[in-house]
Amino acid sequence: MRVVILPSARAAAEAVARFVAESIRTSPSLVLGLPTGRTPIPFYRSLVALHRRGRVDFRRVRTFNLDEFAGIPADHPGSYHAYMRRHLLDHVNLRPSHVRILDGMARPWRREVAQFEIDLDAAGGLDLALLGIGRNGHLGFNEPAGALAAATHRVKLSAASRKANADLFGGRWRDVPTHALSMGIGTLLGARTVILLASGADKARIVARAFTGPVTTQVPASLLQVHPNAVAVLDRAAAARLP
Ligand code: GLP
Repeated sequence: MRVVILPSARAAAEAVARFVAESIRTSPSLVLGLPTGRTPIPFYRSLVALHRRGRVDFRRVRTFNLDEFAGIPADHPGSYHAYMRRHLLDHVNLRPSHVRILDGMARPWRREVAQFEIDLDAAGGLDLALLGIGRNGHLGFNEPAGALAAATHRVKLSAASRKANADLFGGRWRDVPTHALSMGIGTLLGARTVILLASGADKARIVARAFTGPVTTQVPASLLQVHPNAVAVLDRAAAARLP
């Protein structure tokens, strides 16, 4: 696991956006795994700016989002579908048929998570997965537990994760759905390259635990330590507790 520390959250986001743009120039039909949350917002802003300057063309790119809330429709303003439209899809030339986000309303959900894996396999798997990290060490919505699901699955959200997502639901964490669909840890670790972006002092403790502590399913992000090509891109604040 490599760690890159940059002076600010903005510098970290810009560096990752430049890397993604460069990767797309080299491999125009790149398959990307995409995150949500507050951390990637400046990254998406930088990527959109690069697209507007003609520096990146998404025509052949395919994207697979990490997760989505269960029980709310794609047009719900709190959904990750809505987040992705707001921060990326409305501003770049990604083809709608190339964008795969789990459908939180799908019934039965078992068919949806199985189909997601089939669609990802058909695309050739993830070339580059971009990840954030939850304050409890979750990746996507793979919550700390004694055992983790390898494949895409339905998950019960911890109160901590519902609170962390309250902003999307008018600040009321009890309005945040109780369940989500998430790529599994095996699906994520199957990506050829993984870049985890973390910024801010509130991530410093978990970043140190995840990347210098033992590998454990109680800190799902620690599993990245065994990935052959994983990089954490941090700002100084998130890196503050690293040895
Ligand atoms: C959310 C998402 C994760 C994200 C994490 C961190 O719950 N499901 O994929 O990485 O929480 O979010 P933030 O960047 O807002 O701290």
